[in-house]
Amino acid sequence: MVLKLKNISVSYLGKQILRDISTSFETGEIVMVIGANGSGKSTLLKVLAGLIEYDGEIVLPEGVSDVSEVTGYVFQNPETQIIGSTVWEDVIFGLENIGLKKDEMEKRAMHVLRLLELEELKDTDPYYLSGGQKQRLAIASILALQPEFLLLDEVTAMLDKNGKREVVDAVVKLKEEGKGIIVATHELNLFSAYADRCIYIDAGSIVFDGNPNDGIKLYREKIHRQFASKV
Ligand SMILES: Nc1ncnc2c1ncn2[C@@H]1O[C@H](COP(=O)(O)OP(=O)(O)O)[C@@H](O)[C@H]1O
Ligand SMILES: [Mg+2]
Repeated sequence: MVLKLKNISVSYLGKQILRDISTSFETGEIVMVIGANGSGKSTLLKVLAGLIEYDGEIVLPEGVSDVSEVTGYVFQNPETQIIGSTVWEDVIFGLENIGLKKDEMEKRAMHVLRLLELEELKDTDPYYLSGGQKQRLAIASILALQPEFLLLDEVTAMLDKNGKREVVDAVVKLKEEGKGIIVATHELNLFSAYADRCIYIDAGSIVFDGNPNDGIKLYREKIHRQFASKV
């Protein structure tokens, strides 16, 4: 499945946040979205999640009427997303809203918990989970809704080293399952070995779209230039 973005622009209160974004995303690929704070990474993910208004066009696959039908957004802070009093309930909650039969819900919940290696914690109160486990639960609950694309917004930012590793491993597994993964991140090295592509956003525009190592190099050079001009 492909999502094609054509000349997407977003403005808040007269200020342009995204400028003329044209690119496409495919299932089965991991795309890193990098760029300075405030450059528009989260805004791009929110456009893809169907959470905000935009100018331009997202070309949708046949049979899809809204982009949110095929995407799922995961926040930086898993606490904001977890609502169940057990791991199992948290996954089930999201599914109750879409009106599935009980056995279908349980099948899906079991599948995503296995995939994210949370099966043994299914009766645990999420409060007692580690950061990495919480973030994997947030991903599992979104994944249970069966989006084709996962939008991960700084999902490793609050995690310790083990937690980051666990989430990266999970992302690689989801790619193997055929999902498209779009990950906005400050942690340039964490996903670079696994990303198929890198989009570098500067002040709302895509300034690079291609090989992750080249994109990261370009971004680092820019950071160094800015630093050098200040000292
Ligand atoms: N709800 C909002 N209202 C007004 N401005 C916003 C809002 N959300 C984000 N912005 C602005 O949009 C710009 C891009 O933000 P964002 O997409 O969150 O960047 P990033 O995720 O790359 O840090 C920033 O200048 C930010 O201040
Ligand atoms: Mg952001």
